Amino acid sequence: MDNEKQLRFRTRAIHVGNAADQQTGAVVQPLHVASTFVQKVPGEWGPYDYTRSGNPTRDATETTLASLEGGSGALAFATGMAATHSVTMLLNAGDHVVAGTDIYGGTYRLLHKICNRAGIEVSLADSSTTEALSAAIRPETKLIWIESPGNPLMSITDIAACAEVASQHGVLLGVDNTFATPVLTQPLSLGADIVMHSATKYLGGHSDANGGMLVVNSDELYDKLYFIHNSVGNCMSAWDSFLVTRGIKTLELRVREQCRTAMLVAEHLQQHPKVKRVLYPGLPTHTGHDIAKRQMQGGFGAMLSVEIDADFESTKNVVASTQLFQLAVSLGAVESLISQPASMSHASYDREDRLANGIHDGLIRLSIGLEHVDDLVGDLDQALSNL
Ligand SMILES: Cc1ncc(COP(=O)(O)O)c(C=O)c1O
Repeated sequence: MDNEKQLRFRTRAIHVGNAADQQTGAVVQPLHVASTFVQKVPGEWGPYDYTRSGNPTRDATETTLASLEGGSGALAFATGMAATHSVTMLLNAGDHVVAGTDIYGGTYRLLHKICNRAGIEVSLADSSTTEALSAAIRPETKLIWIESPGNPLMSITDIAACAEVASQHGVLLGVDNTFATPVLTQPLSLGADIVMHSATKYLGGHSDANGGMLVVNSDELYDKLYFIHNSVGNCMSAWDSFLVTRGIKTLELRVREQCRTAMLVAEHLQQHPKVKRVLYPGLPTHTGHDIAKRQMQGGFGAMLSVEIDADFESTKNVVASTQLFQLAVSLGAVESLISQPASMSHASYDREDRLANGIHDGLIRLSIGLEHVDDLVGDLDQALSNL
């Protein structure tokens, strides 16, 4: 598309990578399920030869997201974890990773229980202070991995400041942008090298697709990651690509509305007598609020956590007693979800690491969907009344 760069975000979400089908004129790209593609003569490759190496439906998803993240290229993976794992495959035995303390439990597990077997060492550091991050860097450090807002404490990391630390040390900076989405934050423009998404979340947006994405702004890095993608074969299926592309078309509208509702829910819970603390970057009381105001464009995300004065079992009872908020892992879709990180998304943490990093038994995480705010607030009030 010639004038792509001048188009607004939501226009690009609909049109970039989504030209009408040339053969039929269909306004929606066909779903290409073929695993292999005919060659004219042996050894002469067309644009596609085998779906693991490239697929038109998957290409469309990659083209759209690269545009939305301001990258030069993107790759679509089977899951978010497959995407993150592929980044760690850029490393060699003896290399070291510094990861934020407030990260998805599955990423913690990957780094500590899979990458360590390949001889990669990991340190956790509070990425919301560049001092802690810098102090954790060693001569062997090759990658810094952060999330902002963090999961599940919603800590805010100054991505531009981390990018400066990374470049001073010649280290790659990877940002899991699943919570913020490119609607609110575009880490490549802040100096990150790699952006990762669990496309299972906001990009798909309807709890019916699994996927992961990597976006980069360097041809060299793209080529290295493409080599891993094609060699390992952890790519997104055509069906999931189709669903993620469809989800991305309404991404901005969904995220903006979900942010508005999340702010209202956070303000309500802040006044609630049973709630000790609300962790939401949109609240002026949040320690990362000023950075979030600068870094996140027009909203603070639709994820929030609350701490209640309850032990492991009583907290379990609260999260099991909502009626609209569904008790489930995952996030970012049209339906609101509730979870207890200690027993769900962060159960793979060693208990001491979990508590040391502030993920207490009484922590509840909410993913705000598209229901009416009054219904959501009413549901939370009735669940908290059981305490
Ligand atoms: C922030 C974040 N990153 C990565 C992942 C992993 O993504 P997937 O479940 O698609 O592998 C998740 C999953 O919950 C997540 O919440």
